[in-house]
Parts: sequence; structure tokens; C-alpha cells
Amino acid sequence: MNEEKMDLIIKEADLVVSTPKSPHQFKMEKMDIAIKDGKIHQIGTLNKMESEKFWKAKGLTILPGLIDTQVHFREPGLEHKETIADGSRSAIAGGITGFFEMPNTSPPTLTAKAMANKVRIGKETSWCDFAFYIGAAEENTGCCGVKVFMGSSTGSLLVDRADSLKRVLQNTRRRVAVHCEDEPRLLERRPIAENAHGDVQKHEEWRDWESSLIATKRLLKLSKELNHPVHILHVSTKQEMELLQEEKTNDHRITVETTPQHLTLESPDCYLNLGTKSQMNPPIRDTHHRQALWRALKTGVVDVLGSDHAPHTLQEKSKTYPNTPSGMPGVQTTLPLMLNHIHKGHIHLFDIVRLLAVNPSLIWGIKNRGFLCPNKEASLTIVDLHKEKVIEDSWIESKCGWTPFHGQKNKGWPVATLLRGQFAMKDGELFKVASKAFEFEN
Ligand code: DOR
Repeated sequence: MNEEKMDLIIKEADLVVSTPKSPHQFKMEKMDIAIKDGKIHQIGTLNKMESEKFWKAKGLTILPGLIDTQVHFREPGLEHKETIADGSRSAIAGGITGFFEMPNTSPPTLTAKAMANKVRIGKETSWCDFAFYIGAAEENTGCCGVKVFMGSSTGSLLVDRADSLKRVLQNTRRRVAVHCEDEPRLLERRPIAENAHGDVQKHEEWRDWESSLIATKRLLKLSKELNHPVHILHVSTKQEMELLQEEKTNDHRITVETTPQHLTLESPDCYLNLGTKSQMNPPIRDTHHRQALWRALKTGVVDVLGSDHAPHTLQEKSKTYPNTPSGMPGVQTTLPLMLNHIHKGHIHLFDIVRLLAVNPSLIWGIKNRGFLCPNKEASLTIVDLHKEKVIEDSWIESKCGWTPFHGQKNKGWPVATLLRGQFAMKDGELFKVASKAFEFEN
């Protein structure tokens, strides 16, 4: 008897498979994947199944759709740097199927109204799936999906007092995402930057490892005291990773992010070669810190990779340090960079899937994502692990139009991005298909 007709069957690709029951037990299997009504219908050898369309993907590798859980897309208010449309196109071009966006826009996302406005813009313009963080400020509490800046960075959001941070944790149910740099120490050491005579290398000295460690220690103490889940963003130091290795428990109350930039770039080379393009908060640090981040990634201390995509125009970046803004674009280069790290022997493909698909879906309880198995959404990232290409500014879809990785020879490249069975990117060509806001389990 004839089975139901599929919308699309992708044939003979290598699939990275794990299941919600054993989320970190990965297998790579050469199989077909059948898609119907935006969902994965079946995987296996599907020779007899009928379908509207077939795609032979021999030699390619299919991953559950990757999600970038930390981007800054600047809309509303700073659209000259980035819009949700441009940032999400950049995501799709880089094999990313969805993003969590940060609240340091203008005005900052502090109210239900500001949040609703962002969701509206997302629905109208986003090229991929989306969710938005609400910001914690001294004057607001009691919201879900809260982002806290303990040290000031781009924008005006700041919660630098211990009692205010405690109130944020007490008044939220959900995991609170925190930028850990200690504001009093940053203020005290600010003359290091002021007297840098334009030398951006001083950025790392100003915002030193102790500034990060102090804030992380304070956050961990509060998180334990209040038994509240926290997500520590862009961890950049050896000392924090060593502490987190000791402190992290299996109940996942504490989750940890690091970025592809902190894993790839190091000082002093980045400052000498890229100048203020490599200025970000927390700073890119030296090789000892970078190696410690890799160790932490290998021993399971790191739970997710976030790009901290933070576009600024080249004009803004060409001012004299410290008048230059911190941050660099990253949503489009995350996957190529990490694939290249496979070939350098730094990471396994399964870990990329764990850090960018499975764990985001488990930690935040994203519905119907994270796994290549029946009934999950057919939102897929398809890569050619062996394709060699040079990363170039001209490839970047972000409005800022540049990447700190311009000129890097890369092995491994995203070749298709699908949202619910529809191609949003194929061989570098982008297609606007329906996106939606992520839904969460709780
Ligand atoms: O370097 C950074 N830039 N770090 C942040 O935390 C914020 C970001 C931005 O929004 O520019």
C-alpha cells in the first residue's frame, strides 16, 4: 500500500542523531530524512517513500538546526549598526536557524511593551526563529528570560549592586543570563584605558581576569543561596573556568557559555593584527586563557556556545581607543569557525551539535527542537565538512559588513539552512521563508 506523500526527502546524507532520552549519546548515520508539514516524519532508508521533492545530499552532513543563544541585533534604535532582518539573514547564511537576542537596544527592552514590539518586528522581518531577552535594570524585576549586565558594556543596562542582583534572582522564575564583570573594579581601573594613548591592547589589562572572576564568584554565591538557575555568558578566563569546574553541579543550576571568538583569537596577536575590531567585553585574552577555555569545553564545563554577535560600524570602530565601541559580529561565522576547529583537532562535530542545538533546547526548554527525530521540527543545518572557503567581509550579511575573520582559510562550511522543511539558504543563496518565535516548555 502506498504511504502518505512527503513534502521533501533528503537522501543519503550523514545525520548526527541523538534522542531526548539520551541527548548526549550521538551517532552519525547515513540515512534519508523525510519531511512532511514542517516536521521530521521519518528517518531511515526510505527507498519506497513518495515525496513531492527529493534532494540527493550524499557527502553532506545534517545537524539539528543550530541556535545562537546570544546575539545583539540593535533594533529598535540602533538600526545603523544592525536590524533584526539583517542580523537574522546573517544567521541563516551561517547555518544558524534561530537566535536569542539581548536587551541593550535603544530603548532597552525593559517592559512587556518593549518586548511585544521586538516580537512584532521579529514576526514581520526575521529570516529565522527568534526569542528576546528582557533586561534587568535597577528599576525593574519580575520578568522572565532576564539578562543582567554586572559590568557596563554597550548601552545603559547595569545591575552593579549586590542587593539589586539578589532582587532580580528572587523575582524571576527562569534562568537569569549574566554578563560577569565587576563594575566597581572596572571603574577603579578605567584610567588604564584613558591613558592607553589609543593602544587597544590595554583593554585586556583594564578589564582584567579578576574583574570577571569577582563578578562570577558573587553571582555563584547568590545563585546557591537562592537556589536560582543562572547562565554565565561569554566566560573568558582560566580562573572562572577552574572555579566553575568545581562549583558546577549536575542539576544544571549553573550553565556556562563561551564564544567562538574567545576560543579562536588570542592576545596580543588579535590586537596587533585587528586593532579595535577585536575589542569586546569581556576582552579577548592571552593563550593561557584561551587554552583553559578549550579544556573547559572538553571536560563539559561549557554548556553552550553563543556568538555574542555585537555589530558596530567600521566608522565607529575607527575612532581612537577607548572611544571605540566593544563588540564584533559573529552569528554568521560561528559555525564555519567551529567546523574549522574540527580539522585542527580541537573539537568533535558531536560537541558542536551538543553546544549549539541539543543543550540550548534542553536548558531553555525550547519546544520541538534540538534533535533529528520524528515529530521534531524539520529545522536543519546542513554542512559540507570538507568544503574549503576563505571567510570574507563580502560574504557577511550583517549590516556592519565586516568580520574579524576576514581572510581566514576555512575547512567546513554551511551549505543549507532549513526552517520547518523549507530552504532558507541553499548553496549560499538566501530565501525568505516563514519564521516564528520559539516556544518554551515552561
Ligand atoms: O563586547 C560587547 N559588546 N560585549 C557586550 O556585552 C555587549 C556587546 C554590544 O552590545 O556591543
